Amino acid sequence: MKAAYIDRFGGPEVLQYGDLPDPTAATGEVVVDVAAASVNGADWRVRAGQYGQATFPLVLGRDFSGSVAALGAGVDDLKVGDAVFGVLEAGREGAYAEKLAVKAAIIAKKPDWLSHVDVAALALTGLTAIVTLEATLKLKRGETILIRGGAGGVAGFAIQLAKHIGARVIVTASAGNLDYVRGLGADEVIDYNAQDFVRVVSNCDAVFDMVGGEAVQKSFAVLRPGGRAAFIASGPQAPKPDRDDVTALRPAVGRARAPLERIVQLVGAGAVRPPQVTLYRLSQAAEAHRLSQSRHFRGKLVFQVR
Ligand SMILES: NC(=O)c1ccc[n+]([C@@H]2O[C@H](COP(=O)([O-])OP(=O)(O)OC[C@H]3O[C@@H](n4cnc5c(N)ncnc54)[C@H](OP(=O)(O)O)[C@@H]3O)[C@@H](O)[C@H]2O)c1
Repeated sequence: MKAAYIDRFGGPEVLQYGDLPDPTAATGEVVVDVAAASVNGADWRVRAGQYGQATFPLVLGRDFSGSVAALGAGVDDLKVGDAVFGVLEAGREGAYAEKLAVKAAIIAKKPDWLSHVDVAALALTGLTAIVTLEATLKLKRGETILIRGGAGGVAGFAIQLAKHIGARVIVTASAGNLDYVRGLGADEVIDYNAQDFVRVVSNCDAVFDMVGGEAVQKSFAVLRPGGRAAFIASGPQAPKPDRDDVTALRPAVGRARAPLERIVQLVGAGAVRPPQVTLYRLSQAAEAHRLSQSRHFRGKLVFQVR
């Protein structure tokens, strides 16, 4: 199979495109012929070696859509030819490839009305947004949430889901993306380069911070007493708040079929629409990583694999 992979850690230039052996399905797994795979914020960090040890060659990528090509022993709820999508097991990479093997129990069927590209763009972002808003922050109708980093993939899903839940949604983004996040349903938008959001936002029930970095304490500053903030760009632990009347949370984004089916349900119901997508071929992985690593783009970067 063709794949985009690395055989050492480094910059985007270490990404190679070439032939690797086809995977086989172990017990409980299926082999998927990948049609589309998306780029996530974690991928360039894995490539750069920030996630530690790896076995080389390492195929990058976490979420995908495609069709079942082979069944391992014990798989009886999928059949060869089924269109499926999903996210690889936590800690596993390997979606930037024409084929991958994955546990059948953690992938879901792709409906005909959703394209491989769109559902690959929605898989890990949707899973992360659903787990963060529904299971972690337990966002409720009538609450106010600040979403930091509004133009990216996770945020695009989160803004729409928060509106669907019935929350008031305040979003930070750069000037060129303000109309985009308004179009996703943001009630109030803040150009974070022109305005310090802590000066104009206060008394939020919840914050979803996907920016991380040095400004994380600002996410606590805009909360009401008893408010809660969830962080997905600040490492494996939530940062410690500098006040003791708020809660800091790190969503545990597990892999399971149910939240993937919930993504399909939300899109089918018209509550969430797929993000703006920029398409690449696997042979252009270095180019896609340069843009992802810049952290200034809109929506999702997706490989059209076949
Ligand atoms: N399971 C997990 O824990 C999990 C899963 C998925 C993603 N993540 C993490 O979540 C973060 C978001 O991921 P992503 O894939 O949605 O997007 P991303 O690629 O990390 O971020 C791109 C977006 O961030 C915005 N941005 C950058 N700096 C900003 C700032 N200071 N304030 C506001 N917005 C800013 C950019 O918009 P502008 O151009 O408008 O600045 C851009 O649209 C990443 O750090 C990723 O690693 C974690």
